[in-house]
Amino acid sequence: LMAEKGGYKHFMLKEIHEQPRAVRDTIAGRLLESEGDVYLEGLNFNDCQLAAVKRIIIIACGTSWHAALVGKFYLEGHCRIPVEVDIASEFRYRNPVIDESTMVMVISQSGETADTLAALREAKARGAMNMAICNVVDSSIARESAGVIYTHAGPEIGVASTKAFVTQLTALYLFTIRMGRSIGTIDLAAGQSMIAALKHVPALLEEVLTLNSLTEKIARKYMNARDFLYLGRGKNFPIALEGALKLKEISYIHAEGYAAGEMKHGPIALIDEEVPVVMLVPRSSNFDKTLSNMEEVSARGGRVIALCTTGAEDIAGRVEDFIEIPSLCEDLDPLLLSVPLQLLAYHVAVLKGTDVDQPRNLAKSVTVE
Ligand code: G6P
Repeated sequence: LMAEKGGYKHFMLKEIHEQPRAVRDTIAGRLLESEGDVYLEGLNFNDCQLAAVKRIIIIACGTSWHAALVGKFYLEGHCRIPVEVDIASEFRYRNPVIDESTMVMVISQSGETADTLAALREAKARGAMNMAICNVVDSSIARESAGVIYTHAGPEIGVASTKAFVTQLTALYLFTIRMGRSIGTIDLAAGQSMIAALKHVPALLEEVLTLNSLTEKIARKYMNARDFLYLGRGKNFPIALEGALKLKEISYIHAEGYAAGEMKHGPIALIDEEVPVVMLVPRSSNFDKTLSNMEEVSARGGRVIALCTTGAEDIAGRVEDFIEIPSLCEDLDPLLLSVPLQLLAYHVAVLKGTDVDQPRNLAKSVTVE
């Protein structure tokens, strides 16, 4: 069994470490560098069909839903197409407004999640264009979608999704480039620079993985906390949600992800000396805003664990714990920031002695409603 896990103690840790390779596989053979475009073999929509898309609805469950929330930023930001994101079990029962100019995109690692499959069928029945981002080749969702982008993350065994998530973000970015190039909202130079940034991701993920021992030290310090808060803004709000989900799934500690600016509308009431607050504060357009939320937490005695990108060393002295990741760009920093959050959840769970790969009450693939 140890061999199956590639020498790692758990599948989850192995899969966290496979992320550089996984992202390499997601982009392999798909980058058309000189054209500033990408080739997505299973997409099956030509420029003319893509130009007809007036609205996108992205539908998923769990971790895949968090990827969808980041996808909204990519697509609206670069393609100026309105994007809605919905939870599959909500979408399928809410009598959604859909027509032939709506592209419904479902995201699923397994391709077998019952609610996501049902949502896809519902969208098709209502005449929507449809596509999937999927990991498992020839899964039900992949087979039933008009177009598919495979993530090529390889088999994911740990119930807590890690490499599937980061490759879903990569696939969303690839689709954004394709869409933007085909409708003209991304010009040649912009397409080329997006591709150049994407090519840096695998090596930077390798670099971020060297934070393993630091995150273990931090995990040891906070493992007995009863509640955790995760705060972020913009594209990093979904990353905060995902960080909190990872922790609750495998360590059984109550954790909540919140949009940093919403903190004052509720969660701030929870903050005292007992509550670790993981703050995502990469250098970005809303850096100062998030920083002021961080000060609000500190002022109430909250124990801040700050995740920053290089160039924010000044923050280190103002927080209890500080994790620095290399900075790439606002679009892709969320991929890098995901890794220390996975590692933090992993180490807390291991220290607490839970069944990391098979947490209680959870299933890898939820094929019943
Ligand atoms: C289950 C898994 C999660 C996963 C979710 C959606 O809850 O435990 O890790 O994110 O299903 O799965 P899917 O295969 O559709 O991405």
